[in-house]
This record gives sequence, C-alpha cells and structure tokens, in this order.
Amino acid sequence: MEIPGKMSVIAPPRRKHAKNFKCLFCFLCVVAVTTSVWTWYNGEYAVADIRNRPSHRIIKVKQVKQGLSSSFSRQNITMPLMKSANITVKNSSQTPVLISKPLTKKPKEILPCPKLSDIPSLIKKRTMNLSEELQISNAEKIILGTELSSIQQAVNGSKSLIHHKARFNSTGKNFMESLSAYGKTVGKYRWFPGGIWQPANCKARWKVAILIPYRNRAHHVPIVLRYLIPLLQKQLLSFAFFIINQGNSLLFNRAMLLNVGYLESLKYDEWDCFILHDVDHVPLSEINNYGCENMPRRLISGADRWNYRLEYPSFFGAVTGLTKENIQQINGFPNVYWGWGGEDDDILKRLKIADIKVHYAKGKIGYYNVIKHHHESAPKQPERHKLLRDAGLRLKNDGLKNLEYKLQSIELHALYTNISVDIWKL
Ligand code: BGC
Repeated sequence: MEIPGKMSVIAPPRRKHAKNFKCLFCFLCVVAVTTSVWTWYNGEYAVADIRNRPSHRIIKVKQVKQGLSSSFSRQNITMPLMKSANITVKNSSQTPVLISKPLTKKPKEILPCPKLSDIPSLIKKRTMNLSEELQISNAEKIILGTELSSIQQAVNGSKSLIHHKARFNSTGKNFMESLSAYGKTVGKYRWFPGGIWQPANCKARWKVAILIPYRNRAHHVPIVLRYLIPLLQKQLLSFAFFIINQGNSLLFNRAMLLNVGYLESLKYDEWDCFILHDVDHVPLSEINNYGCENMPRRLISGADRWNYRLEYPSFFGAVTGLTKENIQQINGFPNVYWGWGGEDDDILKRLKIADIKVHYAKGKIGYYNVIKHHHESAPKQPERHKLLRDAGLRLKNDGLKNLEYKLQSIELHALYTNISVDIWKL
C-alpha cells in the first residue's frame, strides 16, 4: 500500500540479491580463514616451542628431527646441535629443509695446559721401589686401571694397522691419524695404541717422544714406565714411548738406535723434542722438566750409583733432551760407536761444534735412581777416545745422512711401541 508523501519500505528486487551475495562471500571468507588457522594449528607446519604443545605435537617435532638427522647423515654431515624452537620445516611429507639458522653449540675451546711452574702438587722426591720384580702386565694394571681390558682390545684391534703402515705413510698422513680411531680416555688423559698419550682437557705445551735404546733389559721396562708415565702425565705433556730394540748380536750401538728411533717416531707424529733415555734411569723429582724448554738439555744432575753426582761435569749421557731442530743441525747421532761409551760425549761435541748452547740440570731436581743390573756390563768401545777426537771431521757424513737399517718388526703395546731393527757397520 502506498502512503502519499512517504517512501516505499519495500526494497527494489535487484538490491536484495546483491545483499545476499555479500553475506555469502563474508561467510566463505570466515570459513577459509578458520580452516587455515585450524590447519596451521594441527601441525601442517612444525613450529616453535614444543614445550607448550600437547604430547602428540612433540612426537611430530621428533619425527621432523629424525628426518633432518637422516637427511644429514645421508650427506655424511654431522647434524648441528639445534633447539626445537629453531626448526622450521615446510611440508612434512617431503625431505625436510632446514630454513632458519641452527643454533650451533660453540666447540669447547681447549686452553693450553698450565706451565710446569704453575702445576700444583708436583712431588720433589718420590718414594719408589726399583728393586721389585714388576711384570709388564702389573705396570699396565697400575697405569691403565679400570680401562685395562678395553685398552687391551684396542691394542689388538690396532695390530692390523702396522701391516698397512707403509700405505698410511705413502698417503702423506702420519700414523697418529690412523691410531686415533682406537683412542680411550684414562683419567684426564687420552690414550692411543703404542703408548701415546695426550691430555684430555687442555692442549699440551709440548709433544715429546721418549726414545729408549734397548736390548735384553725386559726387567727394566715395566719399572721405568711405571714411574715415568705418571710423571709425564702430571707435567701435562703429550708424549709417547719408543723402545728401539737392537735385533742382532753385534755390539750394542746406542747412538745408531737413537737415529732409528728419531726417524721412525716422526712417522707417528710431529714431536717437538726427543728425550734420549736410558732404560734403567728413573727420575726422583716430578719437577724435573720433560718438556722441550731450554734444549739441548741434560736432565740428570746426579745418580744414586755415583752418590748423586756425575762422573764429570760435562757428562752428557743417561737422560738428555734435544729438539727436532737440534738433531737436524748436528746430523743426528754418530753411527760408529759399537760397544759401551763415547757416543754421548760425541753428541755433546757435535752440539758445541754447531755452536748450540747446552743446558744442564742442577741440584736435586735432576736426581735419578738406577734400576739394579742383573746382567754383564756391555764390552767397552776400545776406539772411543780416538773416535771422539775426530768427531768434528765425521759430523757432516756420519749420522742421519748415512744411516742404514732394516726394520724387523714394529709392535704396538699398551704402554710403548717396540721397534726392532737390524743395524750393521756402515
Ligand atoms: C764414556 C761415556 C760415559 C761416561 C760415564 C765416559 O768415559 O765415554 O760414554 O757415559 O764415561 O760413564
């Protein structure tokens, strides 16, 4: 009904359709937005902090992590350490893709080990029992403790490496890299087959090879190792023991065995210095420095058998240390001293000729006890005085330069490496 002067209350039919269409559009928008939010919430996207999620969400994030981990391992990459909050993955059905930057944990910085003077609790005079009958198995028990059986297994496992030694060397790698797969932790140290040790929690200031010329002194080996290894560990050095066994019945040639030990030990690792150590000498003081400072150095200042004195002031035998550079500078050690005596004086003469300053331990710090001999003394080298007079003339050509030897065997033991060698007159 039309009332005159008033507007019609009935909308025209075309505008009514437009309004309905608008409502439908709004409804569809609301449905679309709600669905997206719902989908997101239900984990089409793995997001954010799993700590606030219900447990089934945690499982999803775990699956994502596993996916990532296997993806890394396929590519032979170690999975970086990451927090759940940092994982963002698109479409969990595909190979996950790491989008945000992983939180990589900084590798723990390994600090240098303290200097000898800063190491507390070094004992000035140890009590030692050098007359006991100690088997090598007992020395191993004392040094390796609860790790003994796992270390014995590692020693057996590493044996095959020796047969491939030439191959390892030809690749330019040093042997230590191959041995490192067999490493074990013993207290605060890492142990490796062949009696190689590194501090576990700090970077050693020095890498020291102990070279022990040897023949028929099985009784001495466990005793010297039993007292030397703890001392070197207390001094926080990286170190290894090489016993160089003269595998023939010619007169003993200490200096030539030292040349062999020097060259062979360098196939294992880059040593900073070399301690030339008699098998029967044991230091009393833990302050006696087996590190590479002030070298060349005589570590001994006196021995019990000489009433804690030496036979003469310039004695340079028993226990001395030289750096790699020192040894190169003097062409190693003389090869001509067969039998007892003279070779140590010759080494000192070489150092003097090369104008290298020599250091000598003084006082109680350098005291040694000598393990009693149960054997005949080695025959003396009768020509030693004459040879010593000519030391300067021979220096250039007698030493590392003309050295010849034939390896008979190399054995990696738990506490030392045994290098058996055939040598002859050159
Ligand atoms: C020998 C050395 C020996 C020293 C101490 C000297 O006559 O030549 O080789 O170390 O005596 O016994």
